[in-house]
Amino acid sequence: MGEALSKEAEASTEASAAAEVAVASRITGTGFSVPDRVVTNAHFESYLDTSDTWIRERTGIVERRWVGPEESASSLAEPAARTAIERAGLQAADIDGIIVATVTPDYAFPSTACMLQQRLGIDDALAFDVNAVCSGFVYALSTADAYIRAGMCRNVLVVGVDLYSRIINPNDRGTCILFGDGAGAVVLSAVAPEEQFAHGDTLIRGSVQTTAGIYSNLLGADGKHSSILCVPCGTANQPTAESMATDAHYLTMEGREVFKLAVRKLGEISLEMLERFDLPSEAVRYFISHQANERILLSMAKHIKVDAARIPMNLDRYGNTSAATIPILLAELDQDGKIDSGDLLMLNAFGGGVTWGAILLRW
Ligand code: UT7
Repeated sequence: MGEALSKEAEASTEASAAAEVAVASRITGTGFSVPDRVVTNAHFESYLDTSDTWIRERTGIVERRWVGPEESASSLAEPAARTAIERAGLQAADIDGIIVATVTPDYAFPSTACMLQQRLGIDDALAFDVNAVCSGFVYALSTADAYIRAGMCRNVLVVGVDLYSRIINPNDRGTCILFGDGAGAVVLSAVAPEEQFAHGDTLIRGSVQTTAGIYSNLLGADGKHSSILCVPCGTANQPTAESMATDAHYLTMEGREVFKLAVRKLGEISLEMLERFDLPSEAVRYFISHQANERILLSMAKHIKVDAARIPMNLDRYGNTSAATIPILLAELDQDGKIDSGDLLMLNAFGGGVTWGAILLRW
């Protein structure tokens, strides 16, 4: 009887300890999709004053993918989403939240998330878009994490998709060579407290965290730099025949300014995230960074003192796909078996707005 009581007491202590641990979230599936059409640097050499050598040396980009006229953000996102859901071992009906990061939505409204929901045949889920430009996926994933921790969702489909081929000025050699189209997706799922205990505790700065899952988010923005990277037409400045004739409706960028800010911010936020957990940079297996320019990433590597081998890149093949770069890279690494269970990953991004964000997670 005494033994039975003490077992009960033990069980109730375990239960109350578990109850103090919040629900956490972890990535359970990844997927990506890129258009079939490959656009090499030779395409730009054929009509602009540029060269394959300049583009490779100044950016690291060799080729990118562009959609055809019949494609849209939601059509490109659909196969990425289906793969992520399948790899999570779920059915579309299990998804109760859809968050799409994009600045090239199908329409002003309805949201691309709703268009994607329709394509996937999901009847009942919250769905909305996030606009944080190249930091969009990090913002969207942080939002999904917060919704899961708040108990609002259990399985959120988080997508980064952009079709910059639709907004670049084909005659501006400083921008048109940089961008590609693509979509990446993850499923972020709730991890209940008892599952966290089942995997064993990880003690970080006194708070118990799930062994696999998102540990921390860091987001920021500084709107005073809004004009250095923008698409200067919208409801505030509607396109006219005149603005169209002078290409004033296309994306514009002060490349050098964006470059300097990106290097500084990516370094700062990566170090701040490491400091939050008293972690040395070597503890992170991969920095999965927004793929804008090889030189930005190599400068960041120097700043945070990590071997460039831990900053994987695929921008040589896809260019800068804006909100899609991080989930595409993550999906490729996952599908190639290059991430092991237990690896610490840091996602980090910088983009128009200007916006930035970092997420630390354990795989
Ligand atoms: O996703 C987040 C947002 N985007 C980024 O993070 C991109 C950030 N910026 C960059 O990656 C770089 O600034 C660029 C790749 C856009 C430009 O490279 P850069 O080394 O910063 O070049 P620059 O803008 O300082 O220009 C140097 C020269 C200029 O000629 P002059 O004025 O020195 O005669 C440009 O006109 O290079 C010229 N240039 C080019 N030359 C050949 C610019 N684009 C090209 C080109 N081909 N495509």
